[in-house]
Formats: sequence, C-alpha cells, structure tokens
Amino acid sequence: MSAIPVLSGKRILLGVSGSIAAYKAADLASRLTKAGARVDAILTAAASRFVTPLTFQSLTGRPAPADLWSDEAHVLHVGLADGADLLVVAPATADILAKLAHGLADDLLTVTALAARCPLLVAPAMDAGMFDHPAVQANLATLRARGATVIGPAEGRMASGLEGRGRMLEPEEILGHVRLAAGRNGPLAGRRVVVTAGGTQEPIDPVRVLANRSSGKQGFAVAQAALDRGAAVTLVAANCSLTPPVGAARIDVATAQEMADAVLESCAGADALVMAAAVADFRPARPAARKLKKDAGLPSVELERTIDILGVVTAARARPACVVGFAAETGDLLANARKKLKEKRLSLIVANDVTQGGAGFGSDANRVTLIDATGAEELPLLSKAEVAGRILDRVQALLPPA
Ligand code: CTP
Repeated sequence: MSAIPVLSGKRILLGVSGSIAAYKAADLASRLTKAGARVDAILTAAASRFVTPLTFQSLTGRPAPADLWSDEAHVLHVGLADGADLLVVAPATADILAKLAHGLADDLLTVTALAARCPLLVAPAMDAGMFDHPAVQANLATLRARGATVIGPAEGRMASGLEGRGRMLEPEEILGHVRLAAGRNGPLAGRRVVVTAGGTQEPIDPVRVLANRSSGKQGFAVAQAALDRGAAVTLVAANCSLTPPVGAARIDVATAQEMADAVLESCAGADALVMAAAVADFRPARPAARKLKKDAGLPSVELERTIDILGVVTAARARPACVVGFAAETGDLLANARKKLKEKRLSLIVANDVTQGGAGFGSDANRVTLIDATGAEELPLLSKAEVAGRILDRVQALLPPA
C-alpha cells in the first residue's frame, strides 16, 4: 500500500482498548503509518494483555505508551492531544465507551481523550448481547450527541463462538472512515460528485451478454479521491465486484440504459460528473426471451445504438459545471480524444491507449493524457489512485467558486 494524500502528515491518536480485536488494531496502525500518517498508539492496561506496546512501536516507529504513571507518559497526554487531527478508538470496549461518555480519566487514553479537541471516531467491539445492552446504547448516544462518529460493529461470529452484532469493523473499512473524517473539510466539501465505473452488459439472451473489459478500478479510485477531498459522492457501478469506498452512495446497474437512468437522476444538483465507465455503444436490438440453442443454427444478432449518456447530460440546461469523459482508444489517441471533448461538450477528457501493456483495463496502473480546452497533459505511468488524484485536481480547478 502506498501513501494516501489525505492522510499524509496527519496526526492520528489510535486508542486501543482490551478486546481480542486489539490484534486488528495493529494492522490498522500499520496501514495508517504506510499511508503517511503520524500514528501515536495509546494502549489501555487491558489492551496490553492482548497485544504489546512494542507491537505498535514497531509498526508506527513511535513510542506507544500504556502507563499514565511512567515519567514520560505523565506529561505526554497534553503533548499527544495537542494538535492531533483525529482520535480513533479501535477496538472500543463497553468499558472504554462508558469512560469516554462520562468523562472518566484514570489512564493515559482517557486522560488524552479529555485533553484532545479533535474529532473522535470509535469502533466498538464486544461480545454478543453486550452491544445491545441499554447502558452501552445510552453511552453511544451520549458520544454521538457530542459529535463522535460510531462505526460498526458488524454482525458475525465472535471470539466466544456466539453469533451477533459486536465484531469490530475490519481495518480496511476503519481506514475508509478515517479518510472520510480526515477529508471532511477538504477542497470539495459541500460539492456533489457523480462517478461512473465498470462496464455495462447488454443482454443477448437470458444467459449471454455483450460486455467489455472494464474492471471498475479507475472509477472506484476517482470516487475515493473525491471522497478524500470532502465531496459527497454517488458511485454508479456497472457489474463491479470491487468493494466501494466508504462513504460513497453506490447504485448498481447492469445495462447502458440503467446507467443512463441512474446518472441522469443523480446529476440533478451535482457539481461534477466523471464518466469513467465503459458504456456499450451498441446492444442487441431484440434480446431473445429464451436461451439461443446451438441446434437452431448460427444466430445473427442485430445491434442498435444505446443512449449516449454524456451527450444527454451535457445537452441539458442544468448540466453539472464540470463533466469529465474517458476515451479508450487503440490508435490516433489525441485526435480521437479531442474530437470527443468537442462533440460531447466535455470540460475534460481522460484519454488512454488501451493497447499499451501494464496499464488500462484490469490493471492497477494507468497511463493517460488529460485534455481540455487549453491543451493536453501527458501523464507518466501512475497507479490508478494517482491518476484519480490528478483528475480531481483538474475537476477542482474547473469548478466555479462555490
Ligand atoms: N459514454 C457514454 N454513453 C455511451 C457510451 C459512452 O456516456 N453510450 C461515455 C463513456 O463513459 C466515456 C466516453 O463516453 O466517458 C467514451 O466515449 P465514446 O464516444 O463512447 O468512446 P468510444 O466507446 O471509444 O466510442 P468511439 O466508437 O467513438 O471510439
């Protein structure tokens, strides 16, 4: 995993309380550190029975104090709290939630939590039944009323073997929530961005489709980049099996027509549309109601045009201020892309030559050229996350001031 701009240089306090899920907090600490955040882990005494401060020191490269009464830790809580961007308590046991809700301060984590002025994110973890107890729910309500964000817990099998609601969210998902919190006041705060991803599928008969090679990775990366900058994001996904970024409102579609319906509806009041999806240009004119059988001979499938989604969006009077299209080409990249920019009245077009190896469909990297009215910028081979960041830089610049 590589650096994540929205977390780069952020000061994150990671409170770890005493649950078996504490081992997953080590993974979270590692992910946050690799993302570029400065992570100070603070373990409760109970947490130190499941994992050691050394685990966190090794992963974060920073001391992970657990004892309020050690010489350094006694003065540490003010220093730790001062200037922190976010306090994440993961796992948060019923005990630590009660202490946080009531302002108890008898260890380094709870003392730091009272001294801190940054947002608080808690990821509860407790065994079946405990989470539903009115006392726990009342404590969570108190924390929420004070502005804390409660994430999870998930349903599932717990360490006791019981099933229920009480599993801490997985580190990947907690990371998504941390990104949301860190980006909340970002440059696209208050903006609505619609992103499409994946490839549409047009039915030939009940079992066969006309499809394309899009994986959805680039579109999902664009959605994540927009969330990182504080935008409210609608992600219209066509046939994608990827996990959507935390915070995106996802709409699943299959065909070009379904995508058109979802995009047109979502674009009402949106500031930007990024059409990263590979939309079928043609579809079978009359899909067969029953499976085409071999013994009926070679079928001939007549095609018809699908709706041009970008064309309809940009022709509308209330179009989003910034509309970005993609052009996947196998030749004459710049000329073809410029033609599309103009004909589809786009603000920006992202052109890529899909014949190049190691980039494009299905891969984690992409080599694109960004073209707008002012010229073409050829980018080097980048990760799809980096490409998404560059596209969002342009979207930001193209949007009129709020
Ligand atoms: N697109 C769309 N509606 C369609 C087809 C494509 O909005 N029915 C969008 C895609 O999401 C992409 C851009 O238009 O952003 C691609 O333009 P398009 O002209 O379809 O490119 P190609 O499929 O490469 O078409 P051509 O045959 O003109 O090369």
